[in-house]
Amino acid sequence: MLADENYRKRLAMYFTPASLTEGLLNDIAEQGVDFGRQSFMDPACGGAAFLAPIALRMRAALAARGFTALQTLKHIEKHLHGCDLDKTLCELSKHFLCMALHSETQKTGYVPTFKVYPANSLTHLTASFGTVDVVVCNPPYRKMTPGELEPLRDGYSDVIEAQPNLYCLFIALCVRLLRIGGRAALVTPTSFLSGQYFGRLRRFLIGNTDVEHIGMVSDRQGVFIDVEQETAMTVLRRCAEADRTQVRANVSVVSGSGQYASVGVCTLPNSGAVWPIPRSVEDVALLRAAAKSRFRLSDYGYRVRIGAYVWNRDNRPKFESLEDARRVKAQTAMPLMWSRDIVPGSIVRLEDTSVFDGEHRFVDLGDKAHSSVVKLPCVVMQRVTSNDQPRRLVAAAVSPGVFDTYGGFVGENHVVIIEAISSKPSLPPTKLAKLLSAHAVDRYFRCISGATNVSAFELNHLVLPDPQLLREVASDAGSMDEAVSLAYGLSSEG
Ligand SMILES: C[S@@+](CC[C@H](N)C(=O)[O-])C[C@H]1O[C@@H](n2cnc3c(N)ncnc32)[C@H](O)[C@@H]1O
Repeated sequence: MLADENYRKRLAMYFTPASLTEGLLNDIAEQGVDFGRQSFMDPACGGAAFLAPIALRMRAALAARGFTALQTLKHIEKHLHGCDLDKTLCELSKHFLCMALHSETQKTGYVPTFKVYPANSLTHLTASFGTVDVVVCNPPYRKMTPGELEPLRDGYSDVIEAQPNLYCLFIALCVRLLRIGGRAALVTPTSFLSGQYFGRLRRFLIGNTDVEHIGMVSDRQGVFIDVEQETAMTVLRRCAEADRTQVRANVSVVSGSGQYASVGVCTLPNSGAVWPIPRSVEDVALLRAAAKSRFRLSDYGYRVRIGAYVWNRDNRPKFESLEDARRVKAQTAMPLMWSRDIVPGSIVRLEDTSVFDGEHRFVDLGDKAHSSVVKLPCVVMQRVTSNDQPRRLVAAAVSPGVFDTYGGFVGENHVVIIEAISSKPSLPPTKLAKLLSAHAVDRYFRCISGATNVSAFELNHLVLPDPQLLREVASDAGSMDEAVSLAYGLSSEG
């Protein structure tokens, strides 16, 4: 609250609520971490959200081992380490540690010198690589600029992809700090589990760690002030580098108050592919069944593209209605598809005039054959859904009339277009829209996407049932939901 807003954003100063800290520390205690014997480090310690509670647990564990107050202070002084770029936060952390250990300092008159240093952890901790028993960290998250990435390229080449997020490099750092057998407990966004540019990080993690536990924080609102992302609490155990094809991880759902509820075990592939993580108990069977299917949208004869028209950046002539376009003889005006035109279960027809205020219906691209024009039979989807919408995948087929009347349409940037590139797709667009709207498919998508926006990358990784099997069971099934469950190999209730 005291920091300047821009400075806060640059350093990504968002602090872990005490409930989550407690939940994560309970979790690592259950995995076997010994607070009375092991060394701990937080390389982005902020205001000691982890360091202070760890000190309290160390104190309790040492008391149980019969340590005196002085021995306790000296042990904690030696075994607890923190770093943060911000020196005020480092000082604050040391004060909080003094408060946590106040009774011992009072009793002994010994004031420990805590090892909390201001530093850029990404560049200044190499001397500690391979030495720490337990790393606990809620790393900073935001996209890195090319300038700040350049000096880090050599050190983090195995995880850097495109323009990475700071926390991607921090996860690699946390793993490298660990001795073999040591554990990292991380609070991060969930994007590393499925994001396109985290593929190398996923491979690095499978090669260098056992993913012991992934906790998906279910209550998105109010966990981090100002941060609009789903949160994961992950425990990794460093292992000798190995060439593994997959690992299995325990998954729990964690409430905003830090309570864990076990969901089951999932399999994580080591190919840089997305990690499907169950969000509920019912997802475990679905993911297990879906793992046997090799079919993706491309196998159905479709490809994914994103609407090319960005309304607030485009200066080409635009019109509210076809009549307006005709009046000025805009011969190459094409209809625009907006996200709001997509009503699930319907067929999108695109009226001559937009029914929504302020949304122009036509844009003149100057060329009807422009690459932005969609001319193939297709399904359209809303690219961004809100948390309160029941489905993440909001899909509808586009009426053939749109192509007959206008020769195609242009998608606004919040529209995902799934177009048939095969002349004989496995399902026509109307059926594909139904398939994408099926409960099991939506659940699968949620397991590979922690964000409210639907990315082309994740859609391309969506595992679909065998199209031939789907067609075979569809005639007997009462609904697409039932047919999809059967074709995935789930029971119809599943
Ligand atoms: C998301 S906050 C978490 C703070 C604390 N661990 C917690 O859980 O409340 C990230 C912290 O990383 C610090 N930070 C940002 N970049 C850093 C860097 N390169 N090296 C060390 N610390 C950094 C910020 O100052 C901020 O305190």
